[in-house]
Amino acid sequence: MTDLWLIGIGTGNPAHVTLEARQALRDAALVLVPRKGPDKADLADLRHAILNACGSRAPVAEFDMPVRDEGRPYLERVRHWHDEIAALWTRAIATARPQGPVALLVWGDPGLYDSTLRIAARLDPRPRVRVVPGISALQALTAAHAIPFNAVNGAVTVTTGRRLRDFGWPEGTDTVVVMLDGELSFQRLDPAGIEIWWGAFLGLPNQLLEAGPLAQAGPRIVAARAAARARHGWIMDTYLLRRR
Ligand SMILES: C[S@@+](CC[C@H](N)C(=O)[O-])C[C@H]1O[C@@H](n2cnc3c(N)ncnc32)[C@H](O)[C@@H]1O
Repeated sequence: MTDLWLIGIGTGNPAHVTLEARQALRDAALVLVPRKGPDKADLADLRHAILNACGSRAPVAEFDMPVRDEGRPYLERVRHWHDEIAALWTRAIATARPQGPVALLVWGDPGLYDSTLRIAARLDPRPRVRVVPGISALQALTAAHAIPFNAVNGAVTVTTGRRLRDFGWPEGTDTVVVMLDGELSFQRLDPAGIEIWWGAFLGLPNQLLEAGPLAQAGPRIVAARAAARARHGWIMDTYLLRRR
């Protein structure tokens, strides 16, 4: 049975990599590194930089991430994509024949909006999975703005741009954190009484931050995001909304 280690590496700042993660990267016998195409090549490069900085001498097997089939309905598309990735891991592991644990460097924390655990569950035979926690985009966002995650005695909903668009402000919560939002879906909300804290490239040298009442900060964020996306060719951003 393969030991599969899913190692959270934080959101881009090499200082996010915990001592536990560093040791795990040194102890791994093989590291799988996804290549996501030219736009996101620097994320693969960052993974290599982290491996070097940690003193990992494990062989690295790179694999090209498959492209999602946009013709399928959303959930079916995601399931099919996970099957394809599991097949690529299986092939890479069979080719490398590691004599010890196989590691993946997982962006942020492996438990938060990440499919790596679900893909691992598809492997046959099932590997023994170990998760090393990492600093997530949520923590990087609230730390960068020096704000608390929750209001006093308040509830927080963590959701996606798609759900904010489809269902609006979630019931029973005064704070909403939105991830995976390529469309800045807060634009669909009535901004009255809402404050926003936004961060892009959190933890990376080109980190961007904006905050303020949604009515004023919203248009600034739309402009900043479009400019940054045009400059870098890609963007990752997260935001927290709080109702006064
Ligand atoms: C597939 S999820 C991965 C989340 C990750 N597992 C975590 O713990 O943060 C990708 C989403 O995370 C957020 N994200 C990840 N890295 C980020 C960063 N450096 N800056 C801002 N948002 C980030 C964005 O909302 C992005 O759409």
